[in-house]
Amino acid sequence: MRRKIAVDIGTNNTVIWSDGTIVVNEPTIVALSADSEKIVAVGKEALSMLGKTPETVLQEKPVVGGVVANFSVAKAFLKIEFAKLSKSFELLRPDVMLTVPSGSTSVEKRAALEMALESGASHAYIVDATLAAAIGAGVAVSSPSGNVVLHVGADVTEAAVLSLGGIVAFQSKRVGGNTINTHIKSFLKKEYGLVVGDVTCEEIKRKLVSAIAPTEHKEMEISGRDLTFGMPRNITIKDSALFAVTEPVFEEIVSVLEIALGDTPAELSSDVIDKGIVLTGGGSYVTRFDRYITNTTGIPAHLAEDPELCAVRGAAVVLENLNLWKRSIITKA
Ligand SMILES: Nc1ncnc2c1ncn2[C@@H]1O[C@H](COP(=O)(O)OP(=O)(O)OP(=O)(O)O)[C@@H](O)[C@H]1O
Ligand SMILES: [Mg+2]
Repeated sequence: MRRKIAVDIGTNNTVIWSDGTIVVNEPTIVALSADSEKIVAVGKEALSMLGKTPETVLQEKPVVGGVVANFSVAKAFLKIEFAKLSKSFELLRPDVMLTVPSGSTSVEKRAALEMALESGASHAYIVDATLAAAIGAGVAVSSPSGNVVLHVGADVTEAAVLSLGGIVAFQSKRVGGNTINTHIKSFLKKEYGLVVGDVTCEEIKRKLVSAIAPTEHKEMEISGRDLTFGMPRNITIKDSALFAVTEPVFEEIVSVLEIALGDTPAELSSDVIDKGIVLTGGGSYVTRFDRYITNTTGIPAHLAEDPELCAVRGAAVVLENLNLWKRSIITKA
């Protein structure tokens, strides 16, 4: 039997499943030498070089807005990640299931299939990320009732209402966890004249950002570079100051869900209210995000277990039961 591999190649993170477990969970980033364009490092190693490398090394994020933007770099990245799984990968020629945003165009879907084949797959399949995420979260999507998933990634948020294994209502927007970071960065620049790095910004988000008005009065000392004088400077930032800054992002995210819910057939509406909304994707880790979604929609929302792994786990379920899911996948050999 051929080896089976499920891959969720996201804007920030790539997760790979094989033989029943998650075998890779790495940043989707490649470091290239500026002159020869040879790959110097991938994943965590490439990320650790970010902002610290000489000008002879370039960093490339091949996935932008949830879709592959740089085909050759993405392919090279996958080849290296696959090679880590097995020395004889090229000979094994596994079956590969890729997740793609449900809002991808058919051209993007074909490109994803090509990429998997050119990275060494013998058969390539793709499945919608929202469907995969719901399956991976343990939702019974094959049942004849309405199930709602809100999948919040780094750059993309997708909401889908699923019934009988298919998508009955759907919406997607270019907003996600990284949008919060962008808002934090521009706020610190404008209010304090301070430029902060990506790592600091991510730390601020995880510690201080809350989707509903914070009550704990948390604060944090952060370091950055003074915009005017170029010197390092520290400031203390409060959770309450960030709330107004990030609130519009949550409003944008919930609007994705509201549009999908608005398109839901009336027959499924009562199921949706009964079953609630499952939250997947790393972006849904934000403090009190589940409460925010519950409060704004009036429908109970639950954070899935390991939300950032749901899509790849669901893709693995589909790959292991191709016959059951044949109507939900696109394939090429
Ligand atoms: N504890 C946390 N608190 C807040 N945000 C978090 C936390 N952990 C991860 N995130 C956010 O989750 C996002 C990454 O999620 P995920 O790995 O699902 O995205 P992705 O698949 O790379 O992106 P996309 O699906 O948009 O292509 C990032 O924006 C990250 O900051
Ligand atoms: Mg994703």
